[in-house]
Amino acid sequence: MHRKCKYALSLMTAVMLVMLFAVTPYATANEKNVYLKDESSIPELLKVMTLEEKALLLAGDRDSQKLKGAAGSTTGALYEKYGIPATSLPDGPAGVRIDPLPGGTAPDGTPLTRYATQFPNASARASTWNMDLLNKVGQSIGKELRYFGGDLWLAPAMNIHRHPLNGRNFEYYSEDPLLSGKASAAEVKGLQSQRVGATIKHFAANNQETARRNLPTNVSQRALREIYLRGFEIAVKEAKPWAIMTAYNQINGISPPQNPELITTIARGEWGFDGIVMTDWGGQGNASYWEPQPGNNAYSSMVKAGTDLSMPSGSAEDIIEGYQKGFLTMDEIDAAVARVLKYVLKTPAFEGVQPSTDHNKYAKENEQVVFDTAVESMVILKNEKVKGKKALPITGGTIGTIGNATNNLVRGGAGSGNVNVDPSKLVHLAQALEETGANVIDATKFDYPQVDSILPVGGIGGDPAFKEMKPTKEQLAKDIVDKSDSVIMTIRRGSAEGVDVQAEKGAYYLSDAEQYLIETASELCRKANKPFIVVLSTGAPIEMESWKDKADAILLAWETGTVLGKPIASVLTGIENPSGKLSTTFPIDIKGKAPNGWPYVPATTFGENPVTYHEGIYVGYRYYDTFNVPVSYEFGYGKNYSDFSYSKPKLSSKTFNKSIKVSVDVKNTSKVPGKEVVQVYVGAPGKAMHKPLKELKAFDKTRELGKNERQTLTFTLDAKSLASFDEKRSAWVVEPGKYTVYIGASSKDIKHTLNFTVEKEIIVEKVNDVLKTVVDIEEIVPPKKAK
Ligand code: BGC
Repeated sequence: MHRKCKYALSLMTAVMLVMLFAVTPYATANEKNVYLKDESSIPELLKVMTLEEKALLLAGDRDSQKLKGAAGSTTGALYEKYGIPATSLPDGPAGVRIDPLPGGTAPDGTPLTRYATQFPNASARASTWNMDLLNKVGQSIGKELRYFGGDLWLAPAMNIHRHPLNGRNFEYYSEDPLLSGKASAAEVKGLQSQRVGATIKHFAANNQETARRNLPTNVSQRALREIYLRGFEIAVKEAKPWAIMTAYNQINGISPPQNPELITTIARGEWGFDGIVMTDWGGQGNASYWEPQPGNNAYSSMVKAGTDLSMPSGSAEDIIEGYQKGFLTMDEIDAAVARVLKYVLKTPAFEGVQPSTDHNKYAKENEQVVFDTAVESMVILKNEKVKGKKALPITGGTIGTIGNATNNLVRGGAGSGNVNVDPSKLVHLAQALEETGANVIDATKFDYPQVDSILPVGGIGGDPAFKEMKPTKEQLAKDIVDKSDSVIMTIRRGSAEGVDVQAEKGAYYLSDAEQYLIETASELCRKANKPFIVVLSTGAPIEMESWKDKADAILLAWETGTVLGKPIASVLTGIENPSGKLSTTFPIDIKGKAPNGWPYVPATTFGENPVTYHEGIYVGYRYYDTFNVPVSYEFGYGKNYSDFSYSKPKLSSKTFNKSIKVSVDVKNTSKVPGKEVVQVYVGAPGKAMHKPLKELKAFDKTRELGKNERQTLTFTLDAKSLASFDEKRSAWVVEPGKYTVYIGASSKDIKHTLNFTVEKEIIVEKVNDVLKTVVDIEEIVPPKKAK
């Protein structure tokens, strides 16, 4: 059938269904007249639904006609008989990923589009450290999701930045599980306040794209509990997401959706998760928990493990076979069906909300949220004085912009994390600077030779190769530097699902062309006493150690979404004061070793297949700090246009009893109104178990403080936040001894330290001895002298 005809027919069917729904709730009544009405109807439904119908529901669906471009749906085939509507599941972490066309048609015949709003990438959002703002981001996305006809958002994505080259790091918040968990919880709460659902993904330890399907991942119970599961635990307990999506990789020999220990014992049992669990797309996995036996296949064993939906097109036949051969019980099938029905009851689809085919009515309102988030996420990495004045903000004169990325900024990463935005609204940097009133000389307007520069990204929809301008030194001097009062060079890096970042020039490293431009512009600017500023338009770290000295100021803008160049221009010109601090470390390099012999990046097995996490819990700053390995820019670091002082903090007690409070006064000692992120790290005695030097245990951000204004921030540390996971006892344990509280402006910039004592060991929680390793993992332990 012709596509258009098919679409028209399905539209007709939809219209008829709606009419029928309005008149006689359902078209073909089932014999017993049992329909999905509320939770009390579920037991009856389970009695009347056939095995085939139940299996169909659990097998997921690829495409509900309801929302074009949604990655998946649940089946609509049971609507007429039981009143179970199809629900739509669009991606992804930066906004609602749907097709912008076809929308509807306006009365004058012009086509309507459904362009969604793209938000800054997740690492950027976490860099705001502002949980109220992230709640707002969640609300904004929730409003669009509901408006367009979505039911369940396939995000937030919250894997840990184990290695800087993971191609999907842009979609993930942080290297730290507390920051990831809190950011995710804030967005989930905001989104779900709009009566749509969130799906936290990819559960769990999904930390590389190389060999991403079924990748055997060997990781210790302690690293799982403290690092890779901890963020999920926080999000589940604090925000009750409607759904969890499992990961593609195996964990200790078993595919996550096949693992009852992960799904049923931990998520549902220990954490009280009461939503649905779905697979990643085609990610049913190939490593079952159970021995080979009749009826044990990828789909039946998933249901047995507690996974409800095999997305987007599981095999109903295999689920049926699982039952018929005696492997899967009807109780197990019914439990999954009941959970899916409970989910359906909460959805806009069940409420009868009709998808809008009109333009995005939230576009304007949400654009403001994107702008605010982008400003709060940006990190000034460096800001030196030139001629007695800081390079940033630029407060007048002519601005020269160099590098092709000036007009080719990154709005977001590629793959399922993309969002289809209105291309006519995108404003790149030169124009955005002009819109602030600045006088700009844009080097992309000159006819300079173009040379190969940025490598193609690859993966799913990744950027193609890009060229870079190559003016001669004389041209650069005459056309740009001589005529400008400051010069900005923009560097861009895209990344994509399905591929890791290459450890090559033009990917993780600068290309030769970029290196040449930076060196030449820097030399010319220094000679002329003019500030040379670098802007990074990227979702993840790149190598900076070899060139950061060449710039007087560096602004990490991240991926700015729909508003693209506007917040960058506002920050560069001082209209806005950014307040981001790094959610992830920028290491010295991803290869090689520090002078003390330890590698620059701890995850030395990254990209291998199978992969073994020898670094254990020493991920990100937990490693760099404890093993004394220098970095380019540390976790939690960021400057802005204000200066803050920290008063001497107070502890509520010298000894720990159930919880302890610490409070500190933060004062803006500058003239520029601004916000400060305060981080609380704790160092444990580390005698019974080795421990990182310090770990983030609480954080907060001040409101905007004016000149001399101060705010008291108070943090509570409970026993769980001090505990480590003791594999021998399968318990979260707080060891007795002296603890150090570090109040920091970053993980290294510690303003004050305090001490308290835990008098007796506290067993905070005993949990199940599950997810055991299947190979011996030799984990690194901190050198003694660092203690
Ligand atoms: C990705 C998921 C995404 C799904 C649906 C998969 O390839 O890993 O994150 O939600 O596709 O698009």
